Amino acid sequence: MSSIFFPADGDSNLTKERFDASTHADRMTRVGSVVRELAVLVGVYLEGQNIAASPLDELSGLAEAAQVREVGRITQRRRKPEAATYIGSGKLEELKELVNTVDANLVIFDNDLAPSQTKNLEEYLKIKVIDRTELILDIFASRARTNEARLAVELAQLEYSLPRLKRMWTHLERQGVGGVGLRGPGEKQLEVDRRLAQKRILDLKSELNIIQQRRHREVAARKTSRTVSLVGYTNAGKSTLLNRLTNSDEYVKDQLFATLDTRTRRWHLPGWGPVLLSDTVGFVRDLPHHLIASFRATLEEANQADLLLHVADASSRHADIQIEAAFQVLTDIGIREKDTLLVLNKIDVLEPDRLEILLAKYPNAVPISAGNGLGIENLTVAVSDILSKEFLDLTLEIPVANGRIMALLARDGEILSKHYGEETVSVHCRIPKHLLGRLRQEKEIHGLPENITTRNF
Ligand code: GTP
Repeated sequence: MSSIFFPADGDSNLTKERFDASTHADRMTRVGSVVRELAVLVGVYLEGQNIAASPLDELSGLAEAAQVREVGRITQRRRKPEAATYIGSGKLEELKELVNTVDANLVIFDNDLAPSQTKNLEEYLKIKVIDRTELILDIFASRARTNEARLAVELAQLEYSLPRLKRMWTHLERQGVGGVGLRGPGEKQLEVDRRLAQKRILDLKSELNIIQQRRHREVAARKTSRTVSLVGYTNAGKSTLLNRLTNSDEYVKDQLFATLDTRTRRWHLPGWGPVLLSDTVGFVRDLPHHLIASFRATLEEANQADLLLHVADASSRHADIQIEAAFQVLTDIGIREKDTLLVLNKIDVLEPDRLEILLAKYPNAVPISAGNGLGIENLTVAVSDILSKEFLDLTLEIPVANGRIMALLARDGEILSKHYGEETVSVHCRIPKHLLGRLRQEKEIHGLPENITTRNF
């Protein structure tokens, strides 16, 4: 699946050298290699860690998204991880038996494994072992659709793989190549791969940096428009809601992480005017930090938004855990203290008492069904109310000939009515408060309030 290409390396003769993660898969890495496999899931829970009622359900969902079928699961509580194998020796024995009984060809840990732990586990179990981060990276790699998302995932994959390159080459060393005083091909190749990987990481970072700066400029240029960002746990229904609210034909699929990049649409919010509505990448619990770093640019949209709509799948048995996980990711990416409205989605497939329980816990949440439109009106009212805190209702007098001001009002506000006189037009409009500074620069407008101070955008 995911081939990682390394461009020409100016320091060596490695021009057109290529690092292909999928062909390396068997002898080295397994990025992109978890398609259609049978997996045993393993979860180790450490002292003091909060555990969900069915702790491996989320991992099972992630595995399914990577087209891996779960054929068994094992959990263990420990005071701390076993240094060599993460799980204890008794559990490891049990795991081996289970793997053989169910004929699994993959083991997925819900925990993050050190490269040496993976190596030891694979040697003992004689099958492939991956951890949660690797699984999520794999899913992201298969879902990335835009250039930016692909670059971001590739960067995250490479940064994850770099410290693991050594383990990929140890088999050559075991074959007796090299020896005392000799640098074996395995070691040389390791250096080459490492240099190539580092070079590619630098290139990716600089490419992403250019895209990020462009995005930054775009976001800044849109600052006169109010922006609302959809955030939330993967598969909660963000894309469906974006479609419902903006009538756009967004990609919606019942797969985790269908959306890997931000898309922004214009949403005409009744009673308020146009706002920009953007969809963001879906969150999961403990989103790998490589990914958070790589997707920081994409999440810039959410960071700059005036309001976040936190969409949750109320029909999930794990709704509250997913809500908390999404809040945690928001904290991790540095988005705090932003106006956030919790939206409980999929109420069409929800038992009424379940909704009551959720509303008791989240009293300000708005229940909706993005699927059939239930509650959408309440949602638009709630969003208007929040945005209206910074909104003005004005009647302005503008010279008939000044089309530019009219265009500005139409673009960033909402024109409610117009009455033409001989030389001026009287415009009843609602404008975001922050537009006042900009309008005050126009000498020909009359009717702007003088007693309101505002930020100058
Ligand atoms: P990611 O891109 O993974 O973050 O997903 P998302 O949050 O954008 O979810 P998406 O809109 O792709 O919806 C996921 C699945 O939930 C799809 O199968 C939708 O049809 C389904 N879905 C969304 N909203 C509703 C709803 O209100 N009711 C029901 N029953 N299903 C819904």
